Amino acid sequence: MIRKNLVKCLACVMIMIFVLGCQASAEVSSSTLILVNKENALPSNYTPDDLVTCDVPFAPGVIESRKLMRREAAEALAAMFEAASKDGFELLGISGFRSYQTQRELYQAGLERNGLEHVTMYVAQAGRSEHQTGLAMDLGIEGYTDLTEDFAETDAYVWLTKHAHEYGFIIRYTKKGVRETGYAFEPWHMRYLGVETATDVWKSGLTLEAWYRQQLKGTTLKAQYAFLSTQVDS
Ligand code: DAL
Ligand code: ZN
Repeated sequence: MIRKNLVKCLACVMIMIFVLGCQASAEVSSSTLILVNKENALPSNYTPDDLVTCDVPFAPGVIESRKLMRREAAEALAAMFEAASKDGFELLGISGFRSYQTQRELYQAGLERNGLEHVTMYVAQAGRSEHQTGLAMDLGIEGYTDLTEDFAETDAYVWLTKHAHEYGFIIRYTKKGVRETGYAFEPWHMRYLGVETATDVWKSGLTLEAWYRQQLKGTTLKAQYAFLSTQVDS
């Protein structure tokens, strides 16, 4: 009898540990270094709690809910737009935060319109888009707001390749990074990481995925855990 109760008790404790573990792993880090890609997904109910409207010019017709970013990223974006403007480039915001549901609809629409091969290269599945982190902004300039590779031919893009890191941004999906990221070249997609990390990634010439791998190489398990825990709170 005592043994039976003990087994029951142990089973309960195991279940509780499992449930608590699942809840903890579903928490999302507030770090601006969070890695979201085809392998690392966000929970469907995740929305950053510090979204604000970016105080920058947007392309005509951009709806209010696409003008949002996390506060720190929004402030950095405004500083970058101002600096670009001083150098003669009037950047325009196109698409910032997108909810899980919005991303789902975009993916479905892309699939129906362009087919699986194309959508796989250009649109993240719901939960796997950096736009859900509130740390990404698609941008362009007048005449180049349709999110095509043509934007890469402009001087504004060249300016971004030289200066975006000074404001904490990287061009996330580069031409030479296609195999690593799994996405086509997207000269318009800017990801906020903070000045220090963006500068480091920019100097390395690596994709964010490869940069992360390099950071973790040769470190002890404990150091790896400490590093990863800056991305996903547990
Ligand atoms: N276009 C990028 C990959 C996204 O949908 O998040
Ligand atoms: Zn984007």
